[in-house]
Amino acid sequence: MDTANQGDTSVDKGRDYMKKIGVLTSGGDSPGMNAAIRATVRKGKALGLNIVGINSGYKGCLVGDFRNFDLKDVSGIIEEGGTILRSKRAPEFKKKEERTKAIRNLHREGIEGIIAIGGDGTLRGAKALNQEGVPTVCIPATIDNDIYGTDMTIGVDTCLNTVVESIDRIRTTASALERTFIVEVMGRDSGYIALMGGLSGGAEEILIPEVEYDLEEVASDIYNGYKRGKQHMIVVVAEGIYKEGSAAHHVGKHLKEQIGFEVRVTVLGHMQRGGNPSAYDRGIASRLGAEAVTCLSEAKSGVMLGLNGHNIETIDYSEVLSNNKELDMGLYELAQTLSQ
Ligand code: F6P
Repeated sequence: MDTANQGDTSVDKGRDYMKKIGVLTSGGDSPGMNAAIRATVRKGKALGLNIVGINSGYKGCLVGDFRNFDLKDVSGIIEEGGTILRSKRAPEFKKKEERTKAIRNLHREGIEGIIAIGGDGTLRGAKALNQEGVPTVCIPATIDNDIYGTDMTIGVDTCLNTVVESIDRIRTTASALERTFIVEVMGRDSGYIALMGGLSGGAEEILIPEVEYDLEEVASDIYNGYKRGKQHMIVVVAEGIYKEGSAAHHVGKHLKEQIGFEVRVTVLGHMQRGGNPSAYDRGIASRLGAEAVTCLSEAKSGVMLGLNGHNIETIDYSEVLSNNKELDMGLYELAQTLSQ
């Protein structure tokens, strides 16, 4: 036993069980990923472990693209969006023979465990590696907040701040000309960003994939809103409500024909994924990054770290991946009530 570390059992466990941990970011980037990387490196060093960066997600495992991390390498990145490790979608990682090559590379590099930061595709990759003998722990990071087992994912808070700021700006010009604006937000198949962005941005209408919508009804609500004296109408639409093109343009075209008021369309797009992470995202990223290192150092793997209220919990990959995260429909009803 290293006498310098007497009394700190986690250090001893970490040294006994694992010496080198790889960290990667995969799939769509989200603000706060860098804060999570920084936390893994700093916590790893504190536990006497070596943290290695894997560039470009699982692709880096496949081609053996690794980088050593020192404490100073993660200096000044807590406030940066994107990911210093870069990210990629690697569909070839679904093939077992490709993963076998990747595992060989990891062994050659002496990487004994992996912390994977990303969304559901990242989780699937981490689950497969774990089953095939490389211990992994996953940190949920996606602006979509569509992962079962965690209240929040890294990046969604920053994204919502961007959405709300955009709606605020749009409302001023909408009011000036008494226009209706259709604002399309991301989220893939989830309506979370639209629901929370619309609620917090005070939108008049929110269209999400989880709730059937009727454009005739939306048109009549808008018409009645103007009749009641509203100066603007903001309709927030989730990209996932329409699969054959832009959701906002689809809705916009219909409403233009129906209501006779001026309609404009804004698709917020990738600006929702960019920018500096909020204090909240930096906070959870720091906590989850450090906890992931602790987990691996204590021989706990095959789990995602989730936030349940303020607490961090571990959830088995199979439980996360076999369940859908449900939206809180009470919030949808509240948004409807408050939009009158
Ligand atoms: O999953 C995050 C996300 O931003 C989704 O909201 C969106 O549908 C998708 O990624 C966009 O992917 P890409 O950046 O590959 O166009």
